[in-house]
Amino acid sequence: MKRFFKKKKKREPSLLEQYDPESFGAIEIQRLFGMLSRKGSGSGFMSIMVTSPLPQEGKSLLVGNLALVAAHAHQRTLILDADMRRPIQHRQFHLSSSPGLSDYLQKTAEFDQIFHNTELENLKLIPCGSHVSSPSALLQLGIPDFKALLDRCQMDFDIVFVDVPPVIPVNDAERIASLVDGVVLVVTSGKTYREIIDRALKLLDRSNCNLLGIVLNNVKGVLPYYYESGYSQYSAGPIWSE
Ligand SMILES: Nc1ncnc2c1ncn2[C@@H]1O[C@H](COP(=O)(O)OP(=O)(O)OP(=O)(O)O)[C@@H](O)[C@H]1O
Ligand SMILES: [Mg+2]
Repeated sequence: MKRFFKKKKKREPSLLEQYDPESFGAIEIQRLFGMLSRKGSGSGFMSIMVTSPLPQEGKSLLVGNLALVAAHAHQRTLILDADMRRPIQHRQFHLSSSPGLSDYLQKTAEFDQIFHNTELENLKLIPCGSHVSSPSALLQLGIPDFKALLDRCQMDFDIVFVDVPPVIPVNDAERIASLVDGVVLVVTSGKTYREIIDRALKLLDRSNCNLLGIVLNNVKGVLPYYYESGYSQYSAGPIWSE
């Protein structure tokens, strides 16, 4: 008799398990991290927000990988998942989504409760937290608390990477941009129109932030001969542009 079993879902390896410091993608991120570090405030602490003009341009993957590179470089590193709309940092590291940022901003979790340990000793995550129906309203009211959270992080961390939603569809990134030391804009090369990038840059400029530079993702699509194929995690790495 034929027996039917429920197909077990294959467990995706965590970002940490996938990380190979010798891979092409990791080398590019190490270069990018070096450039970001040199732009540091000199105070020994740096908070960097990563955003993009549109959804799905590679923000969260870049944040996760930058954080891994920083942690491997012995920096006390924190990922703050401030994308309360499409949060994935907890999934990338196989951790729980709460308690996290939204719980802290709603005052249902204390500062000490929202830090989650990863398998790397010097890499921690503040996940997005419990689902909220209006992240924009929560951020508007919670901006002083968000700032206080970043200020308190200065004691325990050398670098904080803040993952946020894209700039154009929603205004969360604009609200947070002026609170961090620097902003990185990720753009999908060969796909995102110049006018869209200009609009995102204008919105960020209005928010009075410190734009550190633009990272081109997926350059393989536009520079096929420059990049060899066969790299596993990144089909093509990011490229820095100022
Ligand atoms: N350089 C790359 N090479 C291969 N895959 C990539 C690359 N960058 C991003 N991806 C893939 O593209 C998808 C979107 O990436 P990611 O989740 O980082 O984007 P995002 O900008 O954070 O999206 P969202 O706007 O939904 O938050 C993911 O499946 C990710 O693994
Ligand atoms: Mg994302």
